[in-house]
Amino acid sequence: MRVLVCGARGQVGYELMRLAPQWAEPVGLGSAELDITDPAAVMAVVRELRPDLIINASAYTAVDRAESESAAAYAVNRDGIGHLAAEAQRLGIPLFHISTDYVFSGDASEPYREDQPTAPTGVYGASKLAGEQVLAATCMQHLILRTSWVFGSHGANFVKTMLRLGREREELAVVADQCGCPTSARSIAQALWHLAAVCRQEGRLEWGVYHFAGQPAVSWYEFAVEIFHQALACGLLERMPAVKPITSREYPTPAKRPLWSVLDCSKGEARYGLEPAVWQEELRVMLAALPS
Ligand SMILES: NC(=O)c1ccc[n+]([C@@H]2O[C@H](COP(=O)([O-])OP(=O)(O)OC[C@H]3O[C@@H](n4cnc5c(N)ncnc54)[C@H](OP(=O)(O)O)[C@@H]3O)[C@@H](O)[C@H]2O)c1
Repeated sequence: MRVLVCGARGQVGYELMRLAPQWAEPVGLGSAELDITDPAAVMAVVRELRPDLIINASAYTAVDRAESESAAAYAVNRDGIGHLAAEAQRLGIPLFHISTDYVFSGDASEPYREDQPTAPTGVYGASKLAGEQVLAATCMQHLILRTSWVFGSHGANFVKTMLRLGREREELAVVADQCGCPTSARSIAQALWHLAAVCRQEGRLEWGVYHFAGQPAVSWYEFAVEIFHQALACGLLERMPAVKPITSREYPTPAKRPLWSVLDCSKGEARYGLEPAVWQEELRVMLAALPS
């Protein structure tokens, strides 16, 4: 089964390539080899490779920068996925895609199910939602995995930022009124390969949107405190910095973030056994893979 992995140098793309099962023949391309905003390039690569499945791990992910670079965000997150979707549909192959908790407003108090109304609060979330809609309208065999708060040993993420700040500063302030589910890139890649295996075996999946995120839900502040505890325990930090909980209002950012970003993952769990990974354990695995 030849699998084209787009965005192979990102956090999730890297894990997809690293964890590819034996039966898969993965071809991983970064933006330098395939710019998904270029329809002619997408057409040429897909027609030459003739994959059996496309997994798109590429995206414009700079949430704050997207507020001032809306065209660039939409070019990748809506139009790019549209080009991939058109080719997948033409070949009659499935396209797996990753989306985000930021498609929701964050006004809820219960975990979001897949069928709940979307209302993104910023350009990034809106561009990702537009991508979901283009994909669903263009490619029949589509699977959209919405996830949140991604971390991993490869690439930039909150864990690495905290480790750097923890080394540089004696004390730092972290937002405590946004609640969400940290999710390892590794567990997302495992979930996608599991779905690919089911698809390979059964010839199809129940197409549509699935939520997949780590458990349990926490605030960024609680996430940071656990990062520091674990980093201290495994020798990545020499001393515990003082961590002060603050509100989103005290830490203004160009993009407004949802206060409640908790995804209900029961649909994927019931249908395909996609069990949410415990993020504290995933964090341990990630920290163990980092150079000290
Ligand atoms: N990060 C999070 O916290 C988070 C949360 C929820 C959902 N997600 C979603 O999860 C998915 C994976 O995220 P991630 O954290 O792995 O992202 P990431 O580390 O930022 O990687 C994204 C990759 O996309 C590639 N890319 C950007 N523009 C491209 C283009 N025009 N053509 C081809 N490739 C392009 C980049 O490739 P090069 O490096 O080769 O330039 C980059 O490696 C995305 O769909 C994202 O929206 C992420």
